[in-house]
Amino acid sequence: MINRDDFLLNKDIYFFNNGSFGACPKTVFNKYHEWQRVIEYQPVEFFQETLIPELKRSRQSIGNFINAHCDSLTLTRNATYATNTVIRSLDLEEGDEVLVTNHEYGACINAWEFWQKEKGFKIKVIDIELPLPETSDIIRKIRSYINPETKVIFFSHITSSTAQLFPAREICKFARENNIISIVDGAHTIGQCPLNIMEIAPDFYFSNIHKWLFAPKGTAFLYTRKKLQSMVKPLITGWGWGLNRELQSGSDYIDTNQVYGTSDLSSFLTIPDSINFYNKNNVADLKKKCNALVKYFIREADKITKKKSL
Ligand SMILES: Cc1ncc(COP(=O)(O)O)c(C=O)c1O
Repeated sequence: MINRDDFLLNKDIYFFNNGSFGACPKTVFNKYHEWQRVIEYQPVEFFQETLIPELKRSRQSIGNFINAHCDSLTLTRNATYATNTVIRSLDLEEGDEVLVTNHEYGACINAWEFWQKEKGFKIKVIDIELPLPETSDIIRKIRSYINPETKVIFFSHITSSTAQLFPAREICKFARENNIISIVDGAHTIGQCPLNIMEIAPDFYFSNIHKWLFAPKGTAFLYTRKKLQSMVKPLITGWGWGLNRELQSGSDYIDTNQVYGTSDLSSFLTIPDSINFYNKNNVADLKKKCNALVKYFIREADKITKKKSL
């Protein structure tokens, strides 16, 4: 059973906020430092021989966890990085429209606004009220915002400040049927709710492994549907690109996006350990218990404040 001693957390606080910044368990953190020692023991051997197969092992473990092929997953630093990678890659120009909701995370909206200035597309904000309406009403609302210029929809699977779960599968299906690219900001999903990428069938999906799945900070993945992988442009171009390519993994999409120049990618290599910690401690079940406790707490608080929240 998971407990406070499994973490490095200050013993004087009750830590509830894995959403802003997740707490990394000692076992995973130790593994992270172990990898850093492996690098320093023989740096040249590590970067030339060890890194690429170990990155693949991490991509395979995350792929098994979320039902996605490991070669459609590139490991990336965080959701902000993934958002920028995708927007930079999109073939958008003046006249094109991008839909976002009024529940998006600020840094991601900044990224959209930055690239809007570069590329000239238009951002339209879909106003969705709280509590969230039924799925069919959400789709109806989205439908009312689309027109022939709509090229992309970007939305959070779980929203940041309000923790609402959006119907990702249905929104992606709607987008597909209307020839609109779907980009799902799943920063909060992995480890917090069951995640099955093949079922959701997005064009792009990213999530932070460093929030609810316990990895050290700076660990995330970006999924890209196979037919769109060749359009993904890296934010940093280096040895992973071009004819003189080094550090080959067998996939252009992976090579181009996973090599940033010399950098400490140890956090990526702890992904199998984070998943192991999650499974070994049955965190999925624990989360159900936490949900029940939250509901109990709200009911009791409502009795005191005489409000009705649930
Ligand atoms: C919905 C959502 N998207 C994106 C992010 C950005 O994550 P990061 O700072 O790891 O890039 C966050 C961070 O909390 C978030 O809540």
